[in-house]
Amino acid sequence: MSIHGLDKEKLLAHEDALILAIETSCDETSASVIRGGKHILSNVVSSQIEIHERFGGVVPEIASRKHVETITLIIEQAVEQSGYKLTDMSAIAVTQGPGLVGALLVGIVAAKSLSLALDIPLIGTHHIAGHIYANELVHELEYPCMALVVSGGHTELVLLESEGNFQVIGRTRDDAVGEAYDKVARALHLPYPGGPHIDRIAVEAESSITLPRAWLEADSYDFSFSGLKSAVLSVINQSRMKGLVLDEGALARGFQESVIEVLVTKALRSVKHYGAKQLLLCGGVAANRGLRAALTERCNVEGISLLIPPGTLCTDNAAMIGAAAHLKLKRRIFTNLDMKADPGLSLEQWSI
Ligand code: KG4
Ligand code: ZN
Repeated sequence: MSIHGLDKEKLLAHEDALILAIETSCDETSASVIRGGKHILSNVVSSQIEIHERFGGVVPEIASRKHVETITLIIEQAVEQSGYKLTDMSAIAVTQGPGLVGALLVGIVAAKSLSLALDIPLIGTHHIAGHIYANELVHELEYPCMALVVSGGHTELVLLESEGNFQVIGRTRDDAVGEAYDKVARALHLPYPGGPHIDRIAVEAESSITLPRAWLEADSYDFSFSGLKSAVLSVINQSRMKGLVLDEGALARGFQESVIEVLVTKALRSVKHYGAKQLLLCGGVAANRGLRAALTERCNVEGISLLIPPGTLCTDNAAMIGAAAHLKLKRRIFTNLDMKADPGLSLEQWSI
């Protein structure tokens, strides 16, 4: 039967389909085995943070080289931990984009080789669809729902009117929120990635320096964080020029309060406007304690159902790629072997 035929015994019931998913879009090499799109049998993540830390950010060439060095081992571990064999897999999923092109390529080459060697379908998957469908690994989704995607590369409000149908209703016009966190942390000489460090000192701070909020046009769901970042840098520069001791905790707290107020307000307004039944928080910045607490409190008050996956499923991992790929597997939508890495892959075009 053809490579994309689903009448193979192992693919007969998609509830039992085993997806081997691979994620190499940035600085995490990850492989996972997912059963039926919901059950995580393994999710191995190898982080390169220690290597990139000394450069203060991800160095794309080093990221690609490290993916090459570790990918085979990570895939082997993921398959072994799943309790199944490579030959039991029903399909191979891989992040096609967005991400660093050289890093994506490593996962894609591995996925294509496995698809060809095992004679099973390939599913090129959108990274942000993965972040959003990480929620399905822990909760049942109800439509329409709204996803607030906050990561190192993305800040978006995404409306899902039905399963796998993505409509981006708001996006950042400049820096992504995680990027703003990392830049502010760098200015405060905190290690990379800076988000968790700002989060920690902000939570511990006793006072707060008030900083501007970028609301943009009244009806806009877009975001902007570059003005806030400049305001933080200006406070740091002024205190240095005047020879004053900077209260870094108060500055971090002021920055975090500004970010959170804008994110929470716009997310809740969008939920009400579009009649969403659930609000899904996704992406690496979803680990932020201040954001989680503020969203939880506001959603409780407003009676909105809020879903937040555990931290390990918020940061980059292959299980989330498997969860999103399952949407395509269910509908027998597969990717040709001439698929290319696409750093600018559109979420809306990836929709079902
Ligand atoms: O989703 P992710 O793992 O990778 C991308 O796809 O970008 O997100 C990484 C981002 C980094 O910018 C990191 O600083 C941020 O998530 N981050 C946080 C926290 N933990 C991770 N930002 C704020 N507070 C945190 N606790
Ligand atoms: Zn990500």
